[in-house]
Amino acid sequence: MSAQTTIFTTMTALAEQTGAINLGQGFPDEDGPAEIVDAAVAALRSGTQNQYAPLAGVPPLVAAIRAHQQRRYGLEVEDVQVTFGATEALSCALLGLLQAGDELVALEPVYDSYEPIARLAGATMRRVALHPPGWRLDVDELRAAITPRTRLLLLNSPHNPTGRVLDRAELEAVAALCVELDLIAVTDEVYEHLVLEGEHIPLATLPGMAQRTLTISSVGKTYSFTGWKIGWASGPAALVRAVRAVKQYLSFAGGTPLQHATAAALDAGDLMPDALAAALRAKHDRLVGGLSAAGFAVLPSQGTYFVCADAAALGHDDAQELALRLPHEAGVVAIPVSAFVADPRGETRSLLRFAFCKRDAVLDEAIARLARWAAS
Ligand SMILES: Cc1ncc(COP(=O)(O)O)c(C=O)c1O
Repeated sequence: MSAQTTIFTTMTALAEQTGAINLGQGFPDEDGPAEIVDAAVAALRSGTQNQYAPLAGVPPLVAAIRAHQQRRYGLEVEDVQVTFGATEALSCALLGLLQAGDELVALEPVYDSYEPIARLAGATMRRVALHPPGWRLDVDELRAAITPRTRLLLLNSPHNPTGRVLDRAELEAVAALCVELDLIAVTDEVYEHLVLEGEHIPLATLPGMAQRTLTISSVGKTYSFTGWKIGWASGPAALVRAVRAVKQYLSFAGGTPLQHATAAALDAGDLMPDALAAALRAKHDRLVGGLSAAGFAVLPSQGTYFVCADAAALGHDDAQELALRLPHEAGVVAIPVSAFVADPRGETRSLLRFAFCKRDAVLDEAIARLARWAAS
């Protein structure tokens, strides 16, 4: 078990033990749109949508994913593979595309599943740091992380845990490196619709990238159904084939009725995700206001569910140690950003990640608790 898994498990257990408000875990405490739930119920009751889906996914969902990529980004994808959440798409991608001894590069702080999957593939993950407080990607550092063994870049934007949305200049530099060094890109875009500031640009839309980029997303964040675990990988036929070859023996297919409901969600256009992003923007502002008033130095976040805050401003240099005390002392759970980095003593050591995808009353109560704690 990785150190990262340990801290996430510990924080969830602490939230349960202490009754603290859990702003650690990234899931909404309200359901997504009722009409999408209705579509799921209709699929469950259809009498025809409860058996094994085809390996690639049910045809209406495959078509809806293609149409979404076309409508929103102008991307004509060659192939689509539906998966058990983005997590399975990522697992299949790394297991299918990497050989033992290969290397991949990912942005640090790094989402917790990447490195364990890379290890399962026998590959080594190198990290290139996004540095606080601006979390910009330094292309020279990226180049330095690439070795002759590097086969792929695994790029997450909008980025968990920092909330950074990479801009066009950064993406162009990444694309130029991929083309120059003949690298595959795998992009984790699960927060593609949850952009509060700026614009999400899929790497696949940049010149030379459509033919070397596998794009991954899922229903969970876009529609507030994180438990549905319907994800997908799309892109060039050869890359999707590699995903499918693994998926076939990991799980083959799953969640047929939810695949149909996800198709209905995607086919309904972007009004629902846009409304969610607007609601999240207000929640972000609410939590940022509260954290700042309590004395945290809040770092900019342009998307996702998350915002990072520096506890050093309150005299706490060790966020890991603080995160273990906060549930008891303040009644709030947050995750230390050090859980996402190789060196917990480094530049993220005093940062906490807070999730703002919660009901306003929950955020207000957490803010009030943190204000009382900070003042005491
Ligand atoms: C960056 C990132 N990638 C992937 C996932 C997992 O997505 P899914 O729930 O669709 O498997 C998450 C969920 O928190 C995430 O934050």
